[in-house]
Amino acid sequence: MKKLLIAALVLLQSGMVLATGLIKNGDKFYDTRGEVINAHGAGFIKVGDYYYWIGENRKQGVFVSCYRSTDLVNWEFRADLLTRDSDPDLRNANIERPKVVYNEKTGQYVMWMHYEYRHDYSQARAAVAYSDDIEKPFTYVKSFRPFGNMSRDCTVFKDTDGKAYFFSAARENYDLAMYELTDDYLDVKEHITTLWPGGHREAPTLVKHGKYYFLFTSGCTGWNPNQMKYAYAESIRGPWSELINIGDETTFRTQPTYIITVEGKESTSYLYVGDRWDPKQYFNSTYIFLPLRFKDATTPLFEWQDEVRIDAKKGIVN
Ligand code: GAL
Repeated sequence: MKKLLIAALVLLQSGMVLATGLIKNGDKFYDTRGEVINAHGAGFIKVGDYYYWIGENRKQGVFVSCYRSTDLVNWEFRADLLTRDSDPDLRNANIERPKVVYNEKTGQYVMWMHYEYRHDYSQARAAVAYSDDIEKPFTYVKSFRPFGNMSRDCTVFKDTDGKAYFFSAARENYDLAMYELTDDYLDVKEHITTLWPGGHREAPTLVKHGKYYFLFTSGCTGWNPNQMKYAYAESIRGPWSELINIGDETTFRTQPTYIITVEGKESTSYLYVGDRWDPKQYFNSTYIFLPLRFKDATTPLFEWQDEVRIDAKKGIVN
């Protein structure tokens, strides 16, 4: 009984009130055990009725952890997907920005991430892992430089035709390289283009709305937040528009990590997820969830809200 009461108190303090589907931005996020959610630089993927939140957890030799939720508000810890012991290549690694996509042809979940050696960022490699079950430990494949290019902040985007693309900061973060993945998603097949050469873009994340693809990225100021920009394109291969400022000059003190498409019975909404980094105590970094709206076909709107109400079943984010 005492334990239950404590858990209820923790949940109330956490800013996640069970019945209303309410997120209070700025507060810590707790999982259903009452423990702080450790899933930074994350990606999200929907499997059946569940949204999975998969991100960086470096607290105890764990690299990537997985949580799930049906309402995007109450998150249940499921498993550590990648740890220092998953592979000898990971013993001294630093893993950032894991993103998981599902491959229909192989029936595998494939994770792409940024790989470094301890706190040194000079390796600048991509890494890949896979699993048949999203809630079970992933099998590590390799780390490498795609077509010999440096590869730091990254994301994977899976299109509706089943093709998947890897975007990553290349050439000391000056360029954003775009690759198509092989049919099994375990490797890169083609270096399609280099977006905004010299533009210094990081933290890429994409979403498709209507006929257009939108790519959101931050600038390059380490753990400090900066102005997010976006570009849009009718074909994922481009041409892409110029980069356009969105939100305020610090992206409301966050750095983008993912945009969740919340497809419900009544509507489809978009939820921006950003990291509010704490570089002194990395695992203390928090998350900010904000609606991403569209004014017209090519103009996203992004504003600060203290609170966000989510009705995942209806597909409404307010
Ligand atoms: C950020 C990047 C993070 C991490 C950090 C290191 O800009 O988005 O993922 O790499 O730099 O300073």
